[in-house]
Amino acid sequence: MLTIDNQSLRGFLHHVETRFPHELLRIKGQVDTHLETTSAVFELDHAGKSPVVIFENVAGHSMPIVTNIAGNRTLLASCLGVEPADIADAFRERSQKHIPCELVSKGAWDEVVIEGDDVDLTKLPIPHQFSVDAAPYITAGQVTARDPVTGIDTTGFHRLMLKGKNKLGISLHSRRRMYEFHRRAEEQGQSLPAAIVIGNHPLHYMGSMVYAYPPNVRKFEIIGGLFGEPYRLAKCGVGDLEVPAGAEIVIEGEILANEHEPEGPFGEFTGYASYRSTQNIFIAKRIRMRRDAYFHSVVAGMSRDHILISCITREGEILNALRKNIPNVKAVHVPHKTCGAFMAIVSMKKVSEGEPKMAMLSALGTELYTKYVVMVDEDVDIYDMEDVMWAIATRVRAEKDIIMVPGVKSAIIDPTSDPVTFTVTKMGIDATAPTEAGFAERLTISDEQRARARSILESANFSL
Ligand SMILES: Cc1cc2nc3c(=O)[nH]c(=O)nc-3n(C[C@H](O)[C@H](O)[C@H](O)COP(=O)(O)O)c2cc1C
Repeated sequence: MLTIDNQSLRGFLHHVETRFPHELLRIKGQVDTHLETTSAVFELDHAGKSPVVIFENVAGHSMPIVTNIAGNRTLLASCLGVEPADIADAFRERSQKHIPCELVSKGAWDEVVIEGDDVDLTKLPIPHQFSVDAAPYITAGQVTARDPVTGIDTTGFHRLMLKGKNKLGISLHSRRRMYEFHRRAEEQGQSLPAAIVIGNHPLHYMGSMVYAYPPNVRKFEIIGGLFGEPYRLAKCGVGDLEVPAGAEIVIEGEILANEHEPEGPFGEFTGYASYRSTQNIFIAKRIRMRRDAYFHSVVAGMSRDHILISCITREGEILNALRKNIPNVKAVHVPHKTCGAFMAIVSMKKVSEGEPKMAMLSALGTELYTKYVVMVDEDVDIYDMEDVMWAIATRVRAEKDIIMVPGVKSAIIDPTSDPVTFTVTKMGIDATAPTEAGFAERLTISDEQRARARSILESANFSL
């Protein structure tokens, strides 16, 4: 019997097909890579649906495109074996249990090897997602490299613009490990050996977004923690790199030192065309892939596929930072509509004045993208933006409940960040009720009253 690697994209597709068959959409009709795959997923989203989509018949290509694998909280939660409401906590706990990796002798991507002049990235079904995009973009490329100083590796998403048969523009704008590793390589006068790995399990993608972890830990060990078992890696042929053994496609090459070229515009998670980029260049030297490889593409722009992983991982990371100091923090929500990055809503059981301000300072300092934090009491539903707005409208005294911190390092692609320094003013809003005696009392309707009301309405034949 054919065994399916549970740590792979295929393992995930099998999991969805067997446990959530209505959440897997196979499209057999022909689609074009130009705009069509992206607009199809946005149409599904407009209809309130977010299944995994497999485009089986891509014009001009024999390779199918898999997309929207991360656009659904229920499916992502099921990867961790929990209900959607518990996903941030589960992610927070598991991402701290680092498990050493297992090195296997051969990757599933070792079936087809293309090298030298035969390397031709234009043969891959790379979608051109928005009309404003400068070119087709690889959006699900997990770029892996080793720190030239310590040898510890990292993996993370970086957008990759198709520039030629063996050339991709790459933006390292999140300025985390990969940006720093490349800077260190440049300091030594070297290009950075790197591999682009396409077609991984969603838990890989979630683990790759962890920011706060000790420098001697490998991200692959964090991903192992999410799987609850050693992550299986195999050596590929560049820079002694190890990459996920179950991946679909591996592109080996290097990020050039001291060379820059225009990259972008690209439809970013902010909902805007992004012209800002670190403008680096990746040169491909070898492609390895499964014989029947899937091409995985993340839907760009403000799609759930692009944003949901950021929401969940930030919720987990902020909760992690806050719980260390403030045990009465309850939950964190990073909404999709605030781009899965720029705003966090935190609920707490406030015991004394000043606590929410302490929490908001800590949350604002967790990482560079989070620029607004709203603190609410535990009676406010942090997943209901109307309830959050009610708390802001009725509990905030602006002169003392809003703090602003100007000149803080921020996201390059945040359109409000300073175009030269890339800094923003971070803001915290304390929308918790004051502890002073006699502050207004919230209106409530008890569960008994609600049950009685429902029976009155039902007896009038009005169905709720
Ligand atoms: C779908 C998606 C696309 C992303 N694209 C980029 C990108 O183009 N450039 C970038 O620097 N970070 C991007 N990020 C964020 C990084 O992947 C993230 O910050 C990661 O932790 C960086 O890994 P590193 O520490 O190895 O640099 C993206 C994140 C997601 C979820």
